[in-house]
Amino acid sequence: MHDDIDAEFEDLTSAPELSPAIAAGEREDETTLRPRNLTEFVGQGRVREQLELVLQAATHRGAPPDHVLLSGPPGLGKTSLAMIIATELGRSLRITSGPALERAGDLAAMLSNLVEGDVLFIDEIHRMARPAEEMLYLAMEDFRVDVVVGKGPGATSIPLEIAPFTLVGATTRSGALTGPLRDRFGFTAHMEFYEPADLEQILRRSSSILGVDLHPDGAAEIAGRSRGTPRIANRLLRRVRDYADVRADGAVTRDIARAALEIYDVDALGLDRLDRAVLTALVRSFGGGPVGVATLAVAVGEEAATVEEVCEPYLVRAGMLARTPRGRVATAAAWSHLGLTPPPEVAGASAPTLFDE
Ligand SMILES: Nc1ncnc2c1ncn2[C@@H]1O[C@H](COP(=O)(O)OP(=O)(O)OP(=O)(O)O)[C@@H](O)[C@H]1O
Ligand SMILES: [Mg+2]
Repeated sequence: MHDDIDAEFEDLTSAPELSPAIAAGEREDETTLRPRNLTEFVGQGRVREQLELVLQAATHRGAPPDHVLLSGPPGLGKTSLAMIIATELGRSLRITSGPALERAGDLAAMLSNLVEGDVLFIDEIHRMARPAEEMLYLAMEDFRVDVVVGKGPGATSIPLEIAPFTLVGATTRSGALTGPLRDRFGFTAHMEFYEPADLEQILRRSSSILGVDLHPDGAAEIAGRSRGTPRIANRLLRRVRDYADVRADGAVTRDIARAALEIYDVDALGLDRLDRAVLTALVRSFGGGPVGVATLAVAVGEEAATVEEVCEPYLVRAGMLARTPRGRVATAAAWSHLGLTPPPEVAGASAPTLFDE
């Protein structure tokens, strides 16, 4: 249904097992494993409670709820939540994406087809073209668009009423959203990385759907290596299941999970080969930094964007790497993780100022 939406993330990384982006051939599994309603949606307690209130109040009033913006890294459940919003409201969901709305006309066509109360989901909304975005302002506020017909002095603008709807926007980069667009959302849900306990619960649910014999210690082991991301947790579960089926009796225990994930180069903290290469370069070649991200990327033979968008968010979150005004710095934890002794100035230093995005 939303093939075109996820497709553009596919090539983002060279580290497929731990990429938060959806992988080719994974879509069917994601559909099977997607939580169907708010009760099945694990974790994100704060977001869930806020959203529940927004939805219940709207149902109570018999009016479509305010527009909702879902913001957070890939694989944390934005698309799932958008679908859940429509389900909980008992409304139909129309799906499109920012890159698909190249011309204002594309959006006008989408909007004019809406039925009252519909939920319109725009994924990667920060990538919408400017004219479409400006059209969306008016649609969100007044449920009206002005369609411009013709070009030059002869152009006329035809006002078009549209049915009251709820817009759900999703973005992995809320900072890239323009102010006017951001301001028109009544509610913004900030999705956070998941706690290990939540990931274990997600893994239990997935294993019962997939028919995997997942032991509690196996679930804990996989959760700990999943980078706080349900999509990665589900993917690692499938890889471990393969191993358990082929090399053992199918039961996923801690030892089986460890052995399987070793084969896939996923270490105890969920770091993969590229993450470790970045940390190793930072520590060994640049004495722990500070060094610019472009230089670091060259050192590991990767695109700067991959290092910045795929490796760094998790390395920062895991407390291994700090982004400082002068460049990237390895923390004492990074040295220790690589089995090295941090130099005294790193070991003794208080954590450098982190600033994300
Ligand atoms: N809270 C959750 N509970 C259970 N499963 C979840 C949850 N969040 C995500 N998942 C699982 O992770 C998968 C990926 O989630 P989803 O596609 O909603 O992420 P996303 O934030 O839209 O990612 P992207 O930014 O790449 O579009 C889902 O198919 C689902 O199986
Ligand atoms: Mg999505």
